[in-house]
Amino acid sequence: MEKAIQVKGLRKSYKDKEVLKGVDFEVRRGEIFSLLGSNGAGKTTIIRILATLLKQESGTAAVNGFDVAAKPDQVRQSISLTGQFAAVDEMLTGRENLIMIARLRHLHHPRQIADDLLKRFGLTDAADRKASTYSGGMRRRLDIAMSLIGKPQLIFLDEPTTGLDPEARMETWRIVKELADGGTTVFLTTQYLEEAEQLADRIAILHEGRIIANGTLEELRKLFPPAKMEYVEKQPTLEEIFLAIIGKKEAV
Ligand SMILES: Nc1ncnc2c1ncn2[C@@H]1O[C@H](COP(=O)(O)OP(=O)(O)O)[C@@H](O)[C@H]1O
Ligand SMILES: [Mg+2]
Repeated sequence: MEKAIQVKGLRKSYKDKEVLKGVDFEVRRGEIFSLLGSNGAGKTTIIRILATLLKQESGTAAVNGFDVAAKPDQVRQSISLTGQFAAVDEMLTGRENLIMIARLRHLHHPRQIADDLLKRFGLTDAADRKASTYSGGMRRRLDIAMSLIGKPQLIFLDEPTTGLDPEARMETWRIVKELADGGTTVFLTTQYLEEAEQLADRIAILHEGRIIANGTLEELRKLFPPAKMEYVEKQPTLEEIFLAIIGKKEAV
């Protein structure tokens, strides 16, 4: 079957700074693929090239079978992009934000589309409040809902949980899992190892301009020698403690 994304030998520099030095990877249809890399590794640069917002210097990239350089319109019609900073209009209500996007996309029945998405993302009760009153998690949910209007086959989520509190992060994880269960291919970038561990079917690690590891979590684990048995009690992580205290342990 045709791959959702195929990237070969991708290179990109900003002035004399070489950010991508020959990046290769593939994303299968319907999977959650996580691109992991520290701040400044080039994750957003890759997304911008794949979303046709930026041109590579060399190498090829195809999205849903369309070459990004030769067929940018077809690429754009088959994807959606949720950036690192939410595209929500704070002055509009959640419902109005959704209706606006549905109208911009010239879809029929924008109100119905908005109602369905509000329900699916648990925002019905907040639908008629201005987005400026939303919590970080609600805003991110609305942002993702907006990017699903028009039913893209592939969604790019660029650091969807950076800056969110643990509760909101888990809400976002749930949404991402539901998207993938519904058949959408998800390309997710993150700086958080745990996020990739929780969500991704496959993980690629971008470091110093190249993909230095790529595989399932199991495959990546095999790259490292087995952990030595240690006779210490396992300490809960700070996140586990925080969530236990606020009573959200069952959220995932
Ligand atoms: N428009 C630009 N002009 C110059 N340098 C840039 C530009 N965009 C990104 N960079 C640099 O390229 C590197 C990769 O950036 P980016 O793709 O945003 O990384 P990430 O998303 O992984 O944090 C960083 O060092 C960043 O400063
Ligand atoms: Mg980025």
